[in-house]
Amino acid sequence: MSLKNQPQNLRIDDHPILGKDDRETWVNIFFDGIKLKAKKGETIAASLSANGIYKFRTTSRFKKPRGIFCGIGRCTDCVMIVDGIPGVRTCVTAVKEGMKIFTQVGSGRWGDEER
Ligand code: FES
Repeated sequence: MSLKNQPQNLRIDDHPILGKDDRETWVNIFFDGIKLKAKKGETIAASLSANGIYKFRTTSRFKKPRGIFCGIGRCTDCVMIVDGIPGVRTCVTAVKEGMKIFTQVGSGRWGDEER
């Protein structure tokens, strides 16, 4: 997969109510083998969305794409394989340096690159 022609920073850096985002620390994460920059402290889902990625998994039966739905860890639409663990709710899991994140198909399987 290539992220060519994808917007690379969709973060709101200056919010009219919350103010400027002055977090300076970045970490490297890997999405389906592609290196991305993420801000330390943000969730995996926020980081992927900021990089123009909205499909996090596909459903078991009909292979329909899913991404952020509730955004608060309740619906499981955002689950992905993270560091070999399937079913991780990415909307409530913070990024870490070197984290390997893979699109999940169905309920996923254990292991870094298995889907
Ligand atoms: S979007 Fe619902 S659990 Fe993450």
